[in-house]
Amino acid sequence: MKILVINGPNLNMLGQRDKKYYGSVTLKVINNNLKKQALNKVKLKFYQSNCEGKIVTFIQKHLKYDAIIINAGAYTHTSVAIHDALELFKGEIIEVHLSNIKEREEFRQTDYISLVASKCFMGNKEKSYYDALSYLLK
Ligand code: DQA
Repeated sequence: MKILVINGPNLNMLGQRDKKYYGSVTLKVINNNLKKQALNKVKLKFYQSNCEGKIVTFIQKHLKYDAIIINAGAYTHTSVAIHDALELFKGEIIEVHLSNIKEREEFRQTDYISLVASKCFMGNKEKSYYDALSYLLK
């Protein structure tokens, strides 16, 4: 099994963002923990970009992967383009958020990723990512 772990804008700044929502660990730590969790059972490929088009192109180039874990960051609420790229993907799509977007501002209530994801883990800070991988490993 080959899994993509995709992070959108500002997630490269984890560790410096509002700890109340996003916790205090960096994306590097999260990705290293995911690697440990995956052991040799699955192959993980990590990608982070602050650019919508680059995320779209990355998804298009990896359509043969089995699953995607994606935290699209703020693009979750705006990006029809990432939604459409994910629609091309035939494997399982798991949406992740560190914060609980359902309990936050009105502008975060629109969620284009949820329309193509089969499952969402949110609100548990970095644990949301680990829960997503555990779910796929089962
Ligand atoms: C986020 C939630 C988004 O609303 C926000 O723009 C982010 C991070 C989260 O993980 O909680 O950048 O996706």
